[in-house]
Amino acid sequence: MHTQQEPERNLALELVRVTEAAAMAAGRFMGRNDKPGSDQAAVNAMRLVLNSIAINGVVVIGEGEKDNAPMLYNGEQLGSALSPEVDIAVDPIDGTRLLALGRANSLATVAISDRHTMWNPGPFVYMNKIAVGPVGKGMIDIEAPPAVNLRSVARAKGCDIRDLTVVILDRERHAGLIAEVRNAGARIRLITDGDVAGALMTSWPDSGIDLLMGVGGTPEGVISACALKSMGGEIQGKIFPRNDDEISRGNALGYDIAKVLTIDDLVSSDSVFFAATGITDGELLDGVKYFGSGARTHSLVMRSKSGTVREIFARHRLDKLMEFSQIAFD
Ligand code: FBP
Repeated sequence: MHTQQEPERNLALELVRVTEAAAMAAGRFMGRNDKPGSDQAAVNAMRLVLNSIAINGVVVIGEGEKDNAPMLYNGEQLGSALSPEVDIAVDPIDGTRLLALGRANSLATVAISDRHTMWNPGPFVYMNKIAVGPVGKGMIDIEAPPAVNLRSVARAKGCDIRDLTVVILDRERHAGLIAEVRNAGARIRLITDGDVAGALMTSWPDSGIDLLMGVGGTPEGVISACALKSMGGEIQGKIFPRNDDEISRGNALGYDIAKVLTIDDLVSSDSVFFAATGITDGELLDGVKYFGSGARTHSLVMRSKSGTVREIFARHRLDKLMEFSQIAFD
């Protein structure tokens, strides 16, 4: 029996087993155009491994409501101990469409923080976001026009706006934003999906990405905040309601739609753990490679308290794992 305690350092390394398992299970679905199948495989693997970790966890950020995917549902209890009591955020596959079509940058991600420290998106599916790496930290304001933010970040980086690259989800709703960024002179990397990878790239040396801007999922916003806390970057968000129903449900629950959500609003704890494993190849992480009886994974694992970011390459013996694991890796 575990006694009451703060989340310990070993949780970070425990978490990588969760995302490795999800990525290896989901990676089999690359290019198969089977979003539900891949989601189910990733969720099953993630749930199984999370339940083996010595935590008392509650899922605050589950995934799936938007597209009726098989969820690790909000409020679900996970873990094998009475303490530490933690909040859990999961995105078993960020970029299910990327995986379904064999495109770059789909990731399996999970984050853990002290209980009651993750922002609960309630009825809100989308938020406007701006994210930046460590050098641009303190220089962004989600309420300012894109040109102003770009000017501030360029000044902090000692470069021209035209040297900056902004990741934006390629969506109709971003036509105005894209035009403003183009007019300001920055370069744009339009992505079809996966703004968690986009947010992390702002803080990853040599990714060539300076900022993320635009509207994406609320769960992805909280998960990105968990990672950026360790990486030294910054993210701000603002609720982006889809309709009047969301607004009235949000109002009834006491949400302030006009509020700027800082990184500390999105995850208030300073003890946050995050892990991500690449499913398909991308700028950030290699995807899962299978070879006969084994597989190779590439992951990031981090802890905000220390700011340590580990890059972990692992070789897995699937033939041996299948002798005892309940997860269908084969
Ligand atoms: P899923 O793979 O979980 O469906 O999310 C992919 C994603 O691109 C996120 O990275 C992003 O935040 C969100 O969808 C954007 O939503 P939409 O596709 O509805 O614009």
